Amino acid sequence: MLDLLVTRATLPDGRTDMSIAVQDGRIVDVAEGSSAPAHQTLDAQGLLVSPPFCDPHFHMDATLSHGLPRVNRSGTLLEGIALWGELKPLLTAEALIERALAYCDWAVAKGLLAIRSHVDTSDPRLLAVDALLEVQRRVAPYLDLQLVAFPQDGVLRAPGGVENLKRALDKGVHVVGGIPHFERTMAEGAESVRILCEIAAGRGLPVDMHCDESDDPLSRHIETLAFEAQRLGLQGRVTGSHCTSMHSMDNYYASKLLPLIAESGVSVIANPLINITLQGRHDSYPKRRGMTRVPELMDSGVNVAFGHDCVMDPWYGLGSGDMLEVAHMGVHVAQMTSQAGIRQCFEAVTTNAAKLMHLQGYGLAPGCDASFVLLQARDPVEAIRLRAARLKVFRRGQLLAETPPATAALHLAGRPAATDWMQGR
Ligand code: FE2
Repeated sequence: MLDLLVTRATLPDGRTDMSIAVQDGRIVDVAEGSSAPAHQTLDAQGLLVSPPFCDPHFHMDATLSHGLPRVNRSGTLLEGIALWGELKPLLTAEALIERALAYCDWAVAKGLLAIRSHVDTSDPRLLAVDALLEVQRRVAPYLDLQLVAFPQDGVLRAPGGVENLKRALDKGVHVVGGIPHFERTMAEGAESVRILCEIAAGRGLPVDMHCDESDDPLSRHIETLAFEAQRLGLQGRVTGSHCTSMHSMDNYYASKLLPLIAESGVSVIANPLINITLQGRHDSYPKRRGMTRVPELMDSGVNVAFGHDCVMDPWYGLGSGDMLEVAHMGVHVAQMTSQAGIRQCFEAVTTNAAKLMHLQGYGLAPGCDASFVLLQARDPVEAIRLRAARLKVFRRGQLLAETPPATAALHLAGRPAATDWMQGR
């Protein structure tokens, strides 16, 4: 007898009336209309069952610290970095762990079961590294937390930057980060990319670098990152995060760069909520959107995912761990408003993110982990439109979270009382 049978599910690829059979935490069968004896049955009633949401770019060491020690007045990336610098000496491991665990609770409730978080390695105490490694251990039973060694103050610009980053890797952080656009010069930025990729190659680790998070069209470190990925044989293991300068680049240069990124096997992460907020701050009008060229990258064959980046921290005072909100903003900023474009944005917070995170057992096929989310929506387009409720969240066959369906009781003059539980339905 099966442990769990989900019936009448719609899948993100459009298949309807599907049954998902679960045994020992794994999917053992996905078939149309089938039924089999099971200890537990869940009737999806034609609603969408999706693999869990994945956030490939986050900063868990800073999350839920908004207002500490003050708020970001200019709203710029650079004031955010300065503000984080003020907060760092005041951090305690206990408070950081408490905030991170609270955020992980929010994430699970939203069906977000895998997060790649950068952790600042610039503080020689590595307090945040130790704290997030502890969080990683504590949440392991319900959430995949990957950590990236992130030299926020510049791996070459800050004293001891390379050594601190290596010490974080020695402690068990397993992705190499960087911030070439924050190094002192373009040349030092490029040098930092080379050094960091060589460290990753030497240790057999992936790379995920903040790259060209700037409106400067001449910030071209993604070019160096693509080159180093090819030179060192790191194809498929390297990600460029943000890449916002591509928004402002000359179209001729972009036409050379897009295939270069594709042939290097480098993935790209856009962070729509944060890019639209932090970029273009030095513009008057017209104001640039400042997000990388998402549809053009996708059309070139590059794996593109969306990240949340920040929630209630020195850079962004909003957010709730809802990757549908991230996808919703992505649709708008990238003008990916066609049905196909909206579906691509759904993939950017599910399968594309899982791919660059190298998540094992991810998906809705036999043999995959029985991890999925039942949404109060009929398809991915409706899920993004409504930021649909996550009715049930399962991980490896275990129910982790439930949210009641969104409903509104209407009391309209001249009309019988009614309950509208989903706009458009
Ligand atoms: Fe970031």
